[in-house]
Amino acid sequence: MELEKLKEELKKDLGQKLYNHSIATMEEAEKLAKIYRGHIEKAKIAGLLHDCGKRGKDDNISHAKKSAELAIEKYGIDNEEIINAIRYHTTGRVKMALLEKIVFIADKIEPNRAYDGVEELRKIAYSNLDEAIIRSLESTIEYVKKRKMELNIESVNTLNYLKEKK
Ligand SMILES: [Fe+2]
Ligand SMILES: [Fe+2]
Repeated sequence: MELEKLKEELKKDLGQKLYNHSIATMEEAEKLAKIYRGHIEKAKIAGLLHDCGKRGKDDNISHAKKSAELAIEKYGIDNEEIINAIRYHTTGRVKMALLEKIVFIADKIEPNRAYDGVEELRKIAYSNLDEAIIRSLESTIEYVKKRKMELNIESVNTLNYLKEKK
Protein backbone atom coordinates (compact mmCIF):
# COMPACT_ATOMS: atom_id res chain seq x y z
CA MET A 1 0.00 0.00 0.00
CA GLU A 2 1.15 3.49 -0.70
CA LEU A 3 1.59 5.97 2.10
CA GLU A 4 -1.54 7.96 1.22
CA LYS A 5 -3.61 4.80 1.13
CA LEU A 6 -2.18 3.68 4.47
CA LYS A 7 -3.20 7.01 5.99
CA GLU A 8 -6.71 6.68 4.61
CA GLU A 9 -7.12 3.19 6.05
CA LEU A 10 -5.59 4.16 9.37
CA LYS A 11 -7.93 7.09 9.72
CA LYS A 12 -10.87 4.68 9.60
CA ASP A 13 -9.32 2.49 12.30
CA LEU A 14 -8.27 5.06 14.86
CA GLY A 15 -9.94 7.86 16.78
CA GLN A 16 -9.01 11.42 15.84
CA LYS A 17 -6.54 11.88 18.67
CA LEU A 18 -4.64 8.69 18.03
CA TYR A 19 -4.66 9.36 14.31
CA ASN A 20 -3.15 12.82 14.89
CA HIS A 21 -0.52 11.25 17.14
CA SER A 22 0.28 8.73 14.40
CA ILE A 23 0.74 11.42 11.75
CA ALA A 24 2.89 13.46 14.13
CA THR A 25 4.99 10.38 14.95
CA MET A 26 5.45 9.76 11.23
CA GLU A 27 6.71 13.32 10.74
CA GLU A 28 8.95 13.14 13.76
CA ALA A 29 10.38 9.81 12.58
CA GLU A 30 11.10 11.39 9.20
CA LYS A 31 12.95 14.24 10.89
CA LEU A 32 15.03 11.85 12.99
CA ALA A 33 15.76 9.63 9.99
CA LYS A 34 17.20 12.67 8.22
CA ILE A 35 19.38 13.56 11.19
CA TYR A 36 20.65 10.02 11.77
CA ARG A 37 20.70 8.87 8.15
CA GLY A 38 18.02 6.27 8.64
CA HIS A 39 15.76 5.01 5.89
CA ILE A 40 13.26 7.83 5.49
CA GLU A 41 10.40 5.92 3.85
CA LYS A 42 10.61 3.03 6.31
CA ALA A 43 10.74 5.46 9.22
CA LYS A 44 7.61 7.21 7.96
CA ILE A 45 5.63 4.01 7.50
CA ALA A 46 6.68 2.59 10.87
CA GLY A 47 5.93 5.90 12.58
CA LEU A 48 2.52 6.11 10.95
CA LEU A 49 1.50 2.56 11.84
CA HIS A 50 3.21 2.14 15.24
CA ASP A 51 -0.11 2.33 17.15
CA CYS A 52 -2.39 0.89 14.45
CA GLY A 53 -3.52 -1.95 16.74
CA LYS A 54 -4.15 0.23 19.76
CA ARG A 55 -7.72 0.04 20.96
CA GLY A 56 -9.28 1.64 24.01
CA LYS A 57 -8.02 -0.02 27.14
CA ASP A 58 -5.13 -1.99 25.69
CA ASP A 59 -2.17 -2.00 27.99
CA ASN A 60 1.04 -0.42 26.87
CA ILE A 61 2.99 -3.52 26.02
CA SER A 62 0.44 -5.64 24.21
CA HIS A 63 -0.67 -2.85 21.86
CA ALA A 64 2.78 -2.78 20.26
CA LYS A 65 2.57 -6.49 19.48
CA LYS A 66 -0.98 -6.14 18.20
CA SER A 67 0.05 -3.21 16.04
CA ALA A 68 2.89 -5.23 14.51
CA GLU A 69 0.48 -8.05 13.71
CA LEU A 70 -2.13 -5.74 12.23
CA ALA A 71 0.53 -3.95 10.17
CA ILE A 72 1.27 -7.29 8.52
CA GLU A 73 -2.25 -8.63 8.21
CA LYS A 74 -4.27 -5.56 7.43
CA TYR A 75 -1.83 -3.02 6.07
CA GLY A 76 0.21 -5.49 4.08
CA ILE A 77 3.61 -4.53 5.49
CA ASP A 78 6.13 -7.24 4.75
CA ASN A 79 9.33 -5.46 5.66
CA GLU A 80 10.82 -6.92 8.82
CA GLU A 81 12.62 -3.73 9.86
CA ILE A 82 9.36 -1.80 9.82
CA ILE A 83 7.56 -4.55 11.72
CA ASN A 84 10.28 -4.67 14.37
CA ALA A 85 10.20 -0.90 14.79
CA ILE A 86 6.47 -1.19 15.50
CA ARG A 87 6.80 -4.26 17.72
CA TYR A 88 9.46 -2.75 19.98
CA HIS A 89 8.28 0.84 20.15
CA THR A 90 7.31 0.73 23.83
CA THR A 91 10.06 -1.40 25.34
CA GLY A 92 12.93 -1.24 22.91
CA ARG A 93 15.10 -4.33 22.89
CA VAL A 94 18.68 -5.41 23.20
CA LYS A 95 20.65 -4.58 20.03
CA MET A 96 17.81 -2.53 18.64
CA ALA A 97 18.29 -1.27 15.08
CA LEU A 98 18.48 2.39 14.08
CA LEU A 99 14.95 2.32 12.67
CA GLU A 100 13.64 0.89 15.95
CA LYS A 101 15.37 3.67 17.89
CA ILE A 102 13.98 6.34 15.59
CA VAL A 103 10.38 5.18 15.98
CA PHE A 104 10.78 4.62 19.73
CA ILE A 105 11.86 8.23 20.27
CA ALA A 106 9.61 9.79 17.64
CA ASP A 107 6.63 8.36 19.53
CA LYS A 108 7.84 9.92 22.80
CA ILE A 109 8.72 13.41 21.53
CA GLU A 110 6.30 14.22 18.70
CA PRO A 111 4.96 17.79 19.09
CA ASN A 112 1.62 16.79 20.65
CA ARG A 113 3.43 15.17 23.57
CA ALA A 114 3.28 17.23 26.73
CA TYR A 115 4.77 15.84 29.92
CA ASP A 116 7.48 16.77 32.40
CA GLY A 117 10.85 16.56 30.78
CA VAL A 118 9.69 16.26 27.17
CA GLU A 119 11.47 19.47 26.13
CA GLU A 120 14.77 18.19 27.45
CA LEU A 121 14.18 14.81 25.86
CA ARG A 122 13.63 16.50 22.49
CA LYS A 123 16.95 18.33 22.76
CA ILE A 124 18.79 15.14 23.62
CA ALA A 125 17.04 13.23 20.85
CA TYR A 126 18.42 15.58 18.21
CA SER A 127 22.00 15.14 19.37
CA ASN A 128 22.23 11.65 20.87
CA LEU A 129 19.61 9.05 20.06
CA ASP A 130 20.85 6.37 22.47
CA GLU A 131 21.03 8.84 25.34
CA ALA A 132 17.45 9.90 24.63
CA ILE A 133 16.28 6.29 24.82
CA ILE A 134 18.18 5.82 28.08
CA ARG A 135 16.50 8.90 29.59
CA SER A 136 13.10 7.89 28.36
CA LEU A 137 13.37 4.33 29.68
CA GLU A 138 14.73 5.55 33.00
CA SER A 139 11.77 7.82 33.56
CA THR A 140 9.29 5.11 32.51
CA ILE A 141 10.89 2.61 34.87
CA GLU A 142 10.92 5.14 37.69
CA TYR A 143 7.23 5.87 37.08
CA VAL A 144 6.38 2.17 37.12
CA LYS A 145 8.36 1.56 40.31
CA LYS A 146 6.74 4.49 42.13
CA ARG A 147 3.31 3.13 41.36
CA LYS A 148 4.35 -0.41 42.17
CA MET A 149 3.27 -1.53 38.75
CA GLU A 150 4.84 -4.50 37.05
CA LEU A 151 8.24 -3.77 35.59
CA ASN A 152 8.70 -4.85 32.01
CA ILE A 153 11.83 -6.95 31.70
CA GLU A 154 12.40 -6.02 28.07
CA SER A 155 12.62 -2.31 29.01
CA VAL A 156 15.11 -3.08 31.76
CA ASN A 157 17.22 -5.19 29.40
CA THR A 158 17.18 -2.43 26.78
CA LEU A 159 18.25 0.14 29.33
CA ASN A 160 21.13 -2.00 30.62
CA TYR A 161 22.24 -2.77 27.11
CA LEU A 162 22.36 0.90 26.06
CA LYS A 163 24.14 1.93 29.25
CA GLU A 164 26.81 -0.74 28.84
CA LYS A 165 27.31 0.31 25.25
CA LYS A 166 28.15 3.91 26.24
FE1 LIG B 1 2.27 2.97 21.34
FE1 LIG C 1 2.33 6.06 20.13
